[in-house]
Amino acid sequence: MTLILNRADVISVLEMKDCMDVVEKAFAELTNGTAVLPLRIGITPPEGLALYMPAYLKEMKALACKVVTVYKNNPLKHNMPTTIGKVLLQDPETGDVICIMDGGYLTAVRTGAASGVATKYLARKADSQTAGIFGAGVQAKMQLWAVAEARKLSKAFVYDVSEEAAEKFASEMSQKLNIIVQRARSSEELLETDIICAATSSNVPLFDGNKIKEGTHINGIGSHTPNARELDTAIVKRSVFIGDSKEACFKEAGDILIPIAEGAITENHFYAELGEIITGKKSARKNDSEITLFKSNGLAIQDVATAMLVYQKAVAAGKGIKVEI
Ligand SMILES: NC(=O)c1ccc[n+]([C@@H]2O[C@H](COP(=O)([O-])OP(=O)(O)OC[C@H]3O[C@@H](n4cnc5c(N)ncnc54)[C@H](O)[C@@H]3O)[C@@H](O)[C@H]2O)c1
Repeated sequence: MTLILNRADVISVLEMKDCMDVVEKAFAELTNGTAVLPLRIGITPPEGLALYMPAYLKEMKALACKVVTVYKNNPLKHNMPTTIGKVLLQDPETGDVICIMDGGYLTAVRTGAASGVATKYLARKADSQTAGIFGAGVQAKMQLWAVAEARKLSKAFVYDVSEEAAEKFASEMSQKLNIIVQRARSSEELLETDIICAATSSNVPLFDGNKIKEGTHINGIGSHTPNARELDTAIVKRSVFIGDSKEACFKEAGDILIPIAEGAITENHFYAELGEIITGKKSARKNDSEITLFKSNGLAIQDVATAMLVYQKAVAAGKGIKVEI
């Protein structure tokens, strides 16, 4: 029998704190050599892009593949979302698909969770109290949720080119997290905060990196193609650079590839993978004046760990429907 979980089922069982715990373990497995993470496969049918993201986590006994499509004409042509994702979770012992679940909300939470784990290890411990969120979309909300799990925030600011989206974000997130969340009138207001998240659809830098104060921690999750970036050369050069995966950063992340192409930094500027920080193979923040930067491209290990968590919670709560395929 295969368990089918729709979006509402996934939302009902998936909490950020739990997701951060399993995503942290998944990054540790990647560093310890117990994860299998092939590069994602892309196919381009005429109407869009189809991506296949498989991974296996030996310690977690989790095997899955996420199928994601990006079809830009979907909203107008078919009244469907641009990005659609589903996860097929398998039993590693028999290979059978034991669960098919919606992957949209899961992707947003696992992306937030990676930034949450990075923030837990890299942000200043004693006095990180404020967060600045660039973007007010789906991912941005999860970024703030995760940062609020990692540090006790007193206040957060959000900036989006859409004032309406930022206002909606502020009221929704202040209610959800029980902290003050304010719409910033300009992007400059965010530069004073202790933890900054870049989570927009922008292809060009969001702020002047020379204006970031010492000791800031930054999570950059938006752009992930070689020619696009949310972070300028100045901030990358000033930061200790940590990536989710070295291979993914040098294949996909304009945030580091563009400064290298400009000759502003060399490949040696890549300091560590997040898993190396988690496992203690590389030290985290050395003092309160370093600027730390986590670049996330999104890895299938995050999906697999989160899918396993969702499956276990859904089974325990009696969620979803079982079908014989
Ligand atoms: N790293 C990962 O694992 C991962 C996972 C999923 C999505 N993403 C990426 O995250 C980004 C955001 O995705 P989303 O689903 O939240 O999109 P979304 O469309 O829901 O939200 C994007 C928001 O960014 C805002 N924006 C665009 N340019 C801006 C600018 N210059 N300054 C401030 N705000 C700006 C838009 O107005 C919009 O509100 C995308 O680039 C997506 O590809 C990354």
